[in-house]
Amino acid sequence: MSSPAASVRSALRKYLILPKLISLSRAAPKDRAVAWDRYWAGIAKTGARSEVLWDSGTDHEVLGYREVLERHFDPGLPVVDVGCGHGGFSRALAGFYPQVLGVDVSAHAVARARDEAAGMDNVSYLARDMTEPGAGTGLREPGDVNVFIRGVLHVLDRADQAALMENVLELVGEQGTVFLAETNFQGNPVEYVSHLGASRGNIPAPLELAIRKLPMPGRFGPEELARVLPAERWTLLEDGTATIETNPMTEASGDSLVPGYFAVLRKRQ
Ligand SMILES: C[S@@+](CC[C@H](N)C(=O)[O-])C[C@H]1O[C@@H](n2cnc3c(N)ncnc32)[C@H](O)[C@@H]1O
Repeated sequence: MSSPAASVRSALRKYLILPKLISLSRAAPKDRAVAWDRYWAGIAKTGARSEVLWDSGTDHEVLGYREVLERHFDPGLPVVDVGCGHGGFSRALAGFYPQVLGVDVSAHAVARARDEAAGMDNVSYLARDMTEPGAGTGLREPGDVNVFIRGVLHVLDRADQAALMENVLELVGEQGTVFLAETNFQGNPVEYVSHLGASRGNIPAPLELAIRKLPMPGRFGPEELARVLPAERWTLLEDGTATIETNPMTEASGDSLVPGYFAVLRKRQ
């Protein structure tokens, strides 16, 4: 066991990375939609050991959600994957549901998702900012849909979270259900990047890219949910802890697992 002095020294050592974090994150565009599209435009490869921080390259995480999805999703309804990125989760969901539509603010993400889904006939993609008023229009033909959201709310500010969920409310209608899974790391940005394997001497490349190009993420757990989703409009059916699986960037297995939160919601009838 380490002495209290050694623990303090080790905690302080973590913070030596702070100046580097500040200087890297200064370069990220302030406009979130621009930042995301530039990020995706520069991605040459997805999957495990690629540049995409939140892509574990396996279906392990989504398969872990399957039991919860089966409990709540009407299996006959199409699914809209909001903030689909390169569409890996949309493709996995297309194995269980009749039709999946992935929607993302980044046209470059959508182009990549389409390429990666070539040959699949029940998954399609569309570029749209899901925080814009009325963004759900045309996405729910012919009727209500289930909505899947993974790793999107924690990258938005509170106003955008509320705006996006307002559109989601429209999408699910009376029959649909929302499943969301989000990063809910309880710590500051230095602790977060340290958890993902960064030190002053080395920041894993996918993490460095995200810090340099994207707005600083937050966390999304039960408190954030309660702040953003008015109880008079939403019914919380189930929630709990989740494990968000990121790209395996270091040899330490725990580094690529981020504490998360999942929730299942329906429009209040
Ligand atoms: C951390 S990534 C997660 C991607 C995907 N859900 C996954 O888990 O692989 C967040 C995604 O949300 C998208 N996004 C951010 N703001 C958005 C918005 N306003 N409307 C739609 N998509 C958005 C980004 O372009 C990005 O692809």
